[in-house]
Amino acid sequence: MTQCFGEWIRRDATPVSFPVWYSGNMNIGILGAGGIASTMAGTIARMHGIENYAIASRDFSKAEAFRKANGMVKAYGSYEELVADPKVDLVYITTPHSQHAANALLALKYKKPVLCEKAFTANQKEARKVLSAFEKEKVFITEAIWTRYMPSRTIIRNLILSGIIGEPYLLEANLCYGNKNHARLTDPLCAGGALLDMGIYPLTFAVMAFAAYPDALQSFATMTETGVDETTALFASFGAKRAILYTSMDGVSDRNGFIYGTKGYLQVQNINNPEKITIFGGNRKPVKIIRIPHGISGYEWELRSCKKALEEKALECPEMPHSDTLTMMGLFDAIRKQIGVVYPFEKHK
Ligand SMILES: NC(=O)c1ccc[n+]([C@@H]2O[C@H](COP(=O)([O-])OP(=O)(O)OC[C@H]3O[C@@H](n4cnc5c(N)ncnc54)[C@H](OP(=O)(O)O)[C@@H]3O)[C@@H](O)[C@H]2O)c1
Repeated sequence: MTQCFGEWIRRDATPVSFPVWYSGNMNIGILGAGGIASTMAGTIARMHGIENYAIASRDFSKAEAFRKANGMVKAYGSYEELVADPKVDLVYITTPHSQHAANALLALKYKKPVLCEKAFTANQKEARKVLSAFEKEKVFITEAIWTRYMPSRTIIRNLILSGIIGEPYLLEANLCYGNKNHARLTDPLCAGGALLDMGIYPLTFAVMAFAAYPDALQSFATMTETGVDETTALFASFGAKRAILYTSMDGVSDRNGFIYGTKGYLQVQNINNPEKITIFGGNRKPVKIIRIPHGISGYEWELRSCKKALEEKALECPEMPHSDTLTMMGLFDAIRKQIGVVYPFEKHK
């Protein structure tokens, strides 16, 4: 970050630059009072121009406790009350994947712009329905796949384009957390499974590094007793390049991403929120280390992009256009077909 337009992070966070459009307040209404909702509220609390305005839960007492904990203005005991509130500028959907389409369409009923957690929906059919409805009504919506919005994306891509590792030919990335005790992840009715929850990140890492989508995939999985994928490994072809990607809810992994080139290779530490990039030469010795500037939590970038898009009256974010969301959902459908994950609400349709 070389330009400095002003400080937009409050309190003790490391200041990073933001352009001059970053002014005025955007009231966030958070739909669902779970884990990521709490992380995001903590992030918003440290930003300027973006406000923790309202929270909705299916249980009012849960919403009220969340409101108090995060210093919010409003608590609602139903999702519809939140999307109907005229003071909400952006609805942030944080429910399980299976609920995203219905929640987004509820927000559209009140013409509310939406930031929707990943995976955008349970499948491509739902994504197409949601995106075309928002486009028809000219209402903004984007997918909260945070790594697409982070500065590390450009840093990694520019390193590849600089030729420092030569021509990339192979990539390896993983993301595994031992989180199968989290009911949402193993519940087919929530569109659970490692792929949609965590596998999205290694695949996104490969897509961003190669700036392309795979032309062929081969996937293998082990399944939970409930019938969703527990561990998924996949091989992907990107023209002449290849990728090996894996994800699991069974245990932890190092979260590394490696991009191998004809002259050397680079390692991204934590593809889920990149911390450090190490470049290795042909002799496998490190030649350069780049530490990624730390902002608040990493979730600030997608909010910042939403604010800019709303101020420019755009219908999507350039970091994650609707066409990319649709393509990603199509890839997940294809992988799920290979590994045999069908959600109950998709059967007999
Ligand atoms: N970007 C990231 O880094 C990141 C990290 C974690 C999760 N996520 C995504 O965020 C979403 C939520 O994940 P989470 O870990 O926050 O989940 P969570 O802790 O289980 O919370 C989900 C919330 O959704 C609401 N909900 C609505 N219908 C539900 C149903 N049928 N079953 C269970 N909960 C229901 C509940 O809120 P109320 O009871 O308050 O209504 C619940 O607290 C997922 O799409 C996930 O992939 C993203």
